[in-house]
Amino acid sequence: MLRVIAIDGPAASGKSSTAGLVAKRLGWAHLDSGALYRALTLAVLDNIGEGGRGKGDAWSGSRIVAVAERLPVRLVLVSEEFRPEVAGVDVEGAIRSERVTRHVSALAAIPEVRTWVNAQQRRAVEGVKVGGGAEGVVVDGRDIGTVVFPEAPLKIFLTATPDERARRRLSQRGEAVDGEVVRRESQALAARDAADSNRRIAPLKPAPDAVLLDTTALTLEQQVARVVELARGLFPG
Ligand code: DC
Repeated sequence: MLRVIAIDGPAASGKSSTAGLVAKRLGWAHLDSGALYRALTLAVLDNIGEGGRGKGDAWSGSRIVAVAERLPVRLVLVSEEFRPEVAGVDVEGAIRSERVTRHVSALAAIPEVRTWVNAQQRRAVEGVKVGGGAEGVVVDGRDIGTVVFPEAPLKIFLTATPDERARRRLSQRGEAVDGEVVRRESQALAARDAADSNRRIAPLKPAPDAVLLDTTALTLEQQVARVVELARGLFPG
């Protein structure tokens, strides 16, 4: 049995925080697939530039994959946490910038990019199975249960209202959570969700057998406890 827990959901639904804490409690590794899309976006912005988006523009899939392989862009397992690296430098901090956030959905809509990212994720999980101390991997993203690991025995789809997600994102950044700012952040999140949900390839949507978890009224601790409980029922210790 593949020891993977897939956690999908829209931006700022708490996927990565939940996945990281679930992994810690189970003694599993954590892989944030969005971090790889972000690291690749950072590498592309620094090495190719913003480019256009039309036919034959600078952001072609093959050119991006070539940059990813050359630098390289990769995931490195450090203390049960897969961290994104560009040319040997840890970029976990740099990939959260506004500039990367603004461009990442466009890059994630390119089919060759998704094929490359998916291969990295599968390889990372294989590596954990073969040599690592972890017993499995909690992977979070948008298409983990539908495309990357459809055979994962436990699939969770997290949701929360856009306003609640905006509030969480703002307080995470240490910013004031007042009405107008929440409205703007909520609109930006909704725009990114729309881009991720409406793309032709691997759109954001729950797998048919995913457990839907609306976290609007849940604390992080409550949602983590729920996933851990489901995992303990499914994966023999
Ligand atoms: O979860 P995040 O905000 O760090 O993800 C960044 C972007 O990457 C997001 O806009 C959509 C894309 N993404 C994706 O298309 N598929 C994934 N499995 C993970 C992220």
